[in-house]
Amino acid sequence: MSTEPMIKVSSTRERLPMTIPALLDHKHRGEPLVMVTCYDYPSARIVEEAGVDLVLVGDTAAMTVLGYDSTVPVTVDELLVLVKAVRRGLRSPLLVGDLPFGSYEVSNEQAVTTAQRFVKEAGCDAVKLEGGGVMIDRARAIAQTGIPVVGHVGLTPQTATALGGFKAQGRTAERARGVVEDALALQAAGCCAIVFEAIPAPVAEVAMERIEIPVIGIGAGSATDGQVLVWHDLLGLYEWGSPRFVKRYAELRPQILEALRSYAGEVRAGQFPTSEYTYSIDPGELAELRQQLSENA
Ligand code: KIV
Repeated sequence: MSTEPMIKVSSTRERLPMTIPALLDHKHRGEPLVMVTCYDYPSARIVEEAGVDLVLVGDTAAMTVLGYDSTVPVTVDELLVLVKAVRRGLRSPLLVGDLPFGSYEVSNEQAVTTAQRFVKEAGCDAVKLEGGGVMIDRARAIAQTGIPVVGHVGLTPQTATALGGFKAQGRTAERARGVVEDALALQAAGCCAIVFEAIPAPVAEVAMERIEIPVIGIGAGSATDGQVLVWHDLLGLYEWGSPRFVKRYAELRPQILEALRSYAGEVRAGQFPTSEYTYSIDPGELAELRQQLSENA
């Protein structure tokens, strides 16, 4: 870790903060919305500079950052730490916090209480929850308190076991109808946007003909109003492969590995640090130090 003071300089040209009405304007103008997940401060600074429209601190953090096997175990307190860090790094993108499994399903009161924590303690602009059915009531309850809510249909990882695993949803007419109906019900409940995950592109197209709020897709084709990708997928930070719908825009893991191996190799070979990376002291002061230490010996 550097001992230099951290200088926070914004190299970003000031952009207008993204708002809920602005999301809708994007949709009406046909300007695709760009969303990415993010889980820490330095990444948030990069996202800000890249000019992304929406940032999701997803419960994927459970797997990408915290090393759990699924998104299910992550707690509200764990996610809030990450959301706060991202908040400190962002100015203009709309910040959406994911309500984790078990933090909103039980009752409308539980859902509102958790959503309020994301807004009040961590500075989220909106929260996201997964699923249709009773979750539509939860979404409505949160929206009625004035907190913007993003719905999430199709593959909903928190309940992937019930869906038969991490696989595309809505591949029969009946199932696809369920996805579209859930989306329409979430819209009617007051959601400000919806995520479509892992559904056939033609199903998303049919849904888009009926939905008036912005829809962000992940594995749902190009008809949606925008796209979201997970940070670690997009940047190639895993040693394993990615789902079919992920395009890896970089392969950073091999580069990081190479950098770490070079560092380790140089430390072990006595090649780092060289004088260029060290502090000096006036020779007179050094002589004085030696003198004082030998007198005290
Ligand atoms: O948690 C998450 O990262 C998500 C995205 C995959 C949309 O829900």
